[in-house]
Amino acid sequence: MREILVTSALPYANGYIHLGHLVEYIQTDIWARAMRAQGHQVTYVCADDAHGTAIMLKAEENGITPEEQIATVKASHEADFAKFLIEFDNYHTTHSEENKHFSELIYRRLNNAGHISTHDVEQLFDPEKKLFLADRFVKGTCPECHSPDQYGDNCEVCGTTYDATDLIDPRSTLSDAAPTLKTSKHYFFDLPEFEQFLKDWTRSENRLQPSVVNKLQEWFDAGLVSWDISRDAPYFGFQIPDTPSDEPDKYFYVWLDAPVGYMASFKNLCEQRKGTANELDFDRYWAEENEHKTEVYHFIGKDIVYFHALFWPAMLAGSEFRTPTGIFAHGFLMVNGEKMSKSRGTFIKAETYAEYLHPEYLRYYFASKLSDKVEDINLDLADFMQKVNSDLVGKVVNIASRSAGFLVKKYDGMLTEVCAEPLLLDDITKTGDEIAAAYENREFSRAMRLIMQCADKANEYIDTKKPWALAKLEGTEQEVQEVCSVAINIFRQLMVYLAPVLPELTENAKAFLNIDDLSFASRNQWLLGHKINKFKPLMQRIDEKDVSAMIEASKASLGEAQESTQDTKAAAQKVQKEKDSKKAAANDSPKQTDYIGIEDFAKVEMKVAKVLSCDYVEGADKLLQLTLDVGEDKPRNVFSGIRKFYEPEQLTDKKVICVTNLAPRTMKFGVSEGMVLSAGDPKTSLVVITLPDEAVVGDLLA
Ligand code: MSP
Ligand code: ZN
Repeated sequence: MREILVTSALPYANGYIHLGHLVEYIQTDIWARAMRAQGHQVTYVCADDAHGTAIMLKAEENGITPEEQIATVKASHEADFAKFLIEFDNYHTTHSEENKHFSELIYRRLNNAGHISTHDVEQLFDPEKKLFLADRFVKGTCPECHSPDQYGDNCEVCGTTYDATDLIDPRSTLSDAAPTLKTSKHYFFDLPEFEQFLKDWTRSENRLQPSVVNKLQEWFDAGLVSWDISRDAPYFGFQIPDTPSDEPDKYFYVWLDAPVGYMASFKNLCEQRKGTANELDFDRYWAEENEHKTEVYHFIGKDIVYFHALFWPAMLAGSEFRTPTGIFAHGFLMVNGEKMSKSRGTFIKAETYAEYLHPEYLRYYFASKLSDKVEDINLDLADFMQKVNSDLVGKVVNIASRSAGFLVKKYDGMLTEVCAEPLLLDDITKTGDEIAAAYENREFSRAMRLIMQCADKANEYIDTKKPWALAKLEGTEQEVQEVCSVAINIFRQLMVYLAPVLPELTENAKAFLNIDDLSFASRNQWLLGHKINKFKPLMQRIDEKDVSAMIEASKASLGEAQESTQDTKAAAQKVQKEKDSKKAAANDSPKQTDYIGIEDFAKVEMKVAKVLSCDYVEGADKLLQLTLDVGEDKPRNVFSGIRKFYEPEQLTDKKVICVTNLAPRTMKFGVSEGMVLSAGDPKTSLVVITLPDEAVVGDLLA
């Protein structure tokens, strides 16, 4: 068993999670799950990257403290990640005690070893805001082509790069004041001293992807330079320790303590687990001398390679810590072949996506696109729908839905004692080794291809045997059971193979298959003489309407948002509201919400109803049709969008709550004369509220 620590880059605490970010978190999560399924001990940690000028300014803009700002954003990030089934062992923040401790420790060790020096830096300064201005906070006229309104590092019109001090008529974007030049002392980490170490380190086997090694060669050729690790107050971050007291306060630049956040989050987890069965030893993972006992991998985007492949290993090596075993960079997300665009509605927030579409669709699609290369990946929305519908619904789930019915109806769910097609099943079982290797090598697209080839074989087999036709003949009972048992066994192998990508679907499949393990090893035990449960639909097809609605909603959400400022504000309000309502529930006092008067509430008539019958609706895959006794002389007919979550017989004879004075609604299938109350999210999970048997049909709810 290998002991592995994996991380994803720490998202900034000043914005929301979007589909671009999710490429990385989904990639890491799939890898972590796949390695666990292969029997390794994997710990996956992450955190919010909470420091820096941008976050300080955002908090100011929102009229809250930086601490409030980062708490709000952290809660929203965690909620988004949970929706996409990203299962961290720990999600921490860089604004933490642990991170302060390790950042200071690393700095002191580097300083004691002579790797830190200081010198004066002249920079643009905003005299009104009393802030040194990073390049992106200065705008002015390009010194080359004289285009107005260009940022402090390069001109978007002619492409020239320059120093902010070269701009004609520069302005602070924060106050519009003309910046002045001001000098202050900065602290530098001596990167060039680590050149030889870094050359060896980056070129050692399997450390980095070949294209990353080539990129680094360009940087080595250009020459490494010392890295400015300090920022002057005001800054939101950690103060640099041991600086002379007669100087203005110095803070660590956010990128110094950000990667330390990986260690800090892990340390925090070690503390949480102390004394439990799955205790973790910090030193085993981070002490220099243990470098070869455990493995540490960082998943990152291609834009932050410099920080992870140069600064970070040099910092660690210079401060007596182990260095990462490997760094895995991925490319950027394109949507419909172009950069994500707010005006086209393809700059899609994780939250918006999840309102319209099931997160597992995206997990599968990304998996089908991801490789071990640093290439950009394209989310083509038409291809996305087509692929999910044809692969997952059409090929995979179909295998079970075509064969389970016969087994449950005719054989009480029993699979045959002997496999009728051992060569086929053996072939698919063996392919598991290749699939496992593809996961480990981060060749997820190859893994998905292999899995779909297995699914194709199963469907071809079923198509040849035609159990539905056999079932109508005499004397073929045994063959029907055999064919369906083979199909169910192949389906089980597919669930093992897809579990890292589709944790929710496969969890539901476990219940249906009546098994409790989906590890890779479990597949060697075929299901023979085993009883399965009734099949329930495991995944719905993607409806094009939902994709369009998501795009429209993405356009709309940007209409109201000036960048992400509003989002943070809105998120802050939302989290506050949730907090208030939780508090309110605890205190039994009224909720903080848009109130309606009792007279409005009194208008809604709700009655106890009994479900007399429940049926599918021909041509409507979202609806069930309910016939309800609400204590009137005639039963009511109600259509409800719960087909995804219920089989008709699950609701028959149940007592439910019906809104009885809702205006009748004429639908394509008939008139709906009421509404049944349920709770949850109509996209992902809904439960119909049922009442105890004692409830009296026709009684008003009070
Ligand atoms: N805070 C830094 C990382 C510090 S790690 C010690 C940061 N944050 S970020 O929020 O901008 O990005 C987080 C991760 O998401 C990065 O690895 C980044 O490359 C990745 N992505 C952000 N936008 C992306 C796309 N559009 N496409 C793919 N990945 C993207 O960088
Ligand atoms: Zn220019």
